[in-house]
Amino acid sequence: MNKFIGLIILVFFCTHTAVAIAAAEDDIVLNGDAKCTVCHDEADSPELLAIGKTPHGVRADDRTPTCTSCHGESVGHIEHKGKNKPPKPDRTFGKHTATPAADRNQACLNCHQKDNKRHLWVGSAHETHDIACNACHQVHAAFDSVQDKRTQPDVCFACHKEQRAQVNRQSHHPVLEGKVSCSDCHNVHGSAGPRLMKADSVVTTCYACHAEKRGPFVHNHQPVTDDCTNCHMPHGTTADNLLKARPPLVCYQCHSGHGTPGIAGIAPGVTTNPQSDTFIEQGRGCLNCHTEIHGSNNPHGGHNLLPSAFFLR
Ligand code: HEC
Ligand code: HEC
Ligand code: HEC
Ligand code: HEC
Ligand code: HEC
Ligand code: HEC
Ligand code: HEC
Ligand code: HEC
Ligand code: HEC
Ligand code: HEC
Repeated sequence: MNKFIGLIILVFFCTHTAVAIAAAEDDIVLNGDAKCTVCHDEADSPELLAIGKTPHGVRADDRTPTCTSCHGESVGHIEHKGKNKPPKPDRTFGKHTATPAADRNQACLNCHQKDNKRHLWVGSAHETHDIACNACHQVHAAFDSVQDKRTQPDVCFACHKEQRAQVNRQSHHPVLEGKVSCSDCHNVHGSAGPRLMKADSVVTTCYACHAEKRGPFVHNHQPVTDDCTNCHMPHGTTADNLLKARPPLVCYQCHSGHGTPGIAGIAPGVTTNPQSDTFIEQGRGCLNCHTEIHGSNNPHGGHNLLPSAFFLR
């Protein structure tokens, strides 16, 4: 029974599609492109027709655009006769276009704002700086480099030179290696978090890959749960471990060293002689003792981000 109904549906679809194709015989790459491709054909602009090889060119999908969905009906342009240049189409997207960014973007958003991924576009850093969708996306090219991990950074670096310098530093996320992409941490289409973070905060964005830093811990270190960038600069740093500065400097942002009366605790068995304290802090570093800097689970009531209340290396 089910097979029989399936067969009827199949037959219906085949004839239906055949009719649709027959009606659009003059189209080359997109449904309904004939009114434009009568002039912009393979001979005129072969590179434009590569749009047929993108998801926009899936002609069986009737949600996909035709030329006029993006460029507008452009009546004056199509109907132009004579040898002089035709008037411009309603919307152009090239470098020297007179079409405002908001109008260009609206053409895309008509179809691409319904999903959840771009509902925060309006008011976002790129939108308010008049960045167009096609500053990053190449809709006429078969390969849209911004969507590929390996080629994406170069698209961003065209405008973000500082980040190019950062990811080339000695300690860096493997962005140029193609293992982590900018869009693993940023939603460039808009975000509820700071700095276009993909999640609502820096920490939740980082926990997606560094889940062990979330804990739960018996003793949290407050700057860790607040914002990883208190100590790390995620693009790249000259200090190891993506640290903004080497310990103890990174710690001195908030703590005074041991031996400063009333501020930091003094390790048992460690003298309060200022000189030996200097030795402890700079020669061996805070992390020799405070190894559990992201949070500790010492069950014996010991705090201080030490591995154990009694353990001192
Ligand atoms: C009668 C022939 C003809 C038709 C039909 C036609 N065009 Fe054009 N189009 C041209 C010519 C010629 C140019 C080059 C004009 C110039 O050099 O300024 C052009 C240029 C363009 C440009 C570039 C404008 C610029 O300066 O940035 C776009 C975009 C464009 N056409 C889109 C379309 C679209 C979309 C359609 C269908 C709705 C279409 N054209 C239909 C002849 C045509
Ligand atoms: C999804 C939206 C979209 C569709 C559909 C589309 N275009 Fe474009 N078109 C653009 C964008 C954006 C550019 C700018 C170059 C780029 O980013 O690839 C452009 C560039 C052009 C150009 C080069 C001049 C310029 O403005 O830079 C021409 C000519 C053109 N399109 C014609 C066409 C024709 C003909 C069709 C139908 C076969 C078509 N376009 C379909 C968005 C579209
Ligand atoms: C008439 C509706 C329509 C318009 C207008 C439109 N798109 Fe699309 N777009 C689609 C559909 C449908 C798909 C395929 C959907 C899917 O795969 O989920 C798509 C897919 C895409 C994709 C994903 C491609 C991929 O590799 O997965 C990108 C990027 C995109 N569009 C960008 C744009 C940009 C930029 C514009 C404006 C210049 C635009 N679109 C205009 C309907 C549209
Ligand atoms: C700053 C660069 C940039 C700008 C500007 C930009 N995009 Fe994207 N877009 C990306 C990147 C990177 C991806 C792939 C990763 C992702 O999905 O976040 C992407 C993916 C997409 C996709 C396919 C996957 C998805 O999210 O559905 C669509 C559709 C899309 N963009 C549409 C748009 C539209 C529409 C605009 C303009 C309103 C736009 N983009 C502006 C960089 C950009
Ligand atoms: C591992 C996560 C991560 C990756 C990958 C990443 N970023 Fe970021 N980015 C951040 C965080 C976190 C901030 C906020 C840092 C701050 O406020 O100091 C940020 C900030 C920024 C800023 C704003 C800087 C400022 O000073 O306002 C830009 C621009 C930026 N990133 C671009 C990029 C680009 C381009 C790439 C890819 C080459 C990229 N990011 C990859 C996490 C990341
Ligand atoms: C055409 C230029 C251009 C391109 C390409 C571009 N951006 Fe931007 N971006 C800007 C401008 C302009 C701003 C706002 C001013 C600033 O913060 O520098 C911005 C801001 C940002 C911010 C900071 C947001 C904030 O709240 O401070 C991040 C993060 C960012 N871009 C990431 C990216 C990523 C990732 C890419 C590549 C996928 C990219 N951008 C591609 C121009 C661009
Ligand atoms: C998409 C996954 C992903 C996200 C999201 C992510 N990271 Fe990473 N992180 C990695 C990978 C992969 C490495 C490299 C691991 C390796 O080389 O063994 C890494 C390495 C690191 C390192 C060690 C670097 C070194 O030099 O050894 C630090 C610190 C770090 N990440 C912090 C962060 C922070 C902070 C965030 C949030 C802003 C974050 N990560 C978000 C994947 C991610
Ligand atoms: C108080 C400063 C500080 C904060 C805040 C901080 N870290 Fe770290 N992080 C360090 C130090 C110091 C190291 C190097 C010592 C070590 O390996 O524990 C490090 C190392 C790392 C490493 C690489 C070595 C490892 O343990 O895997 C990752 C990954 C990392 N941090 C992720 C994070 C994430 C994710 C956050 C935010 C949830 C964060 N850090 C917040 C100080 C901090
Ligand atoms: C952005 C500020 C900030 C930075 C940077 C920072 N801390 Fe902290 N740290 C705090 C705060 C806030 C507390 C909690 C103080 C309290 O509860 O009284 C704390 C607590 C501690 C404690 C005591 C924990 C306890 O159980 O009493 C130790 C040990 C410590 N930090 C070591 C470090 C070391 C080592 C570094 C450098 C790798 C560092 N901190 C970097 C803000 C910071
Ligand atoms: C030789 C090991 C050692 C080194 C090196 C060390 N600490 Fe400690 N630290 C301890 C011990 C042990 C305690 C617990 C002392 C106590 O409870 O009185 C402690 C306690 C602390 C506390 C908590 C103070 C309080 O009042 O509870 C802070 C903050 C701290 N250290 C920061 C640092 C910083 C910052 C550095 C580097 C500049 C550093 N420590 C280097 C062993 C060390």
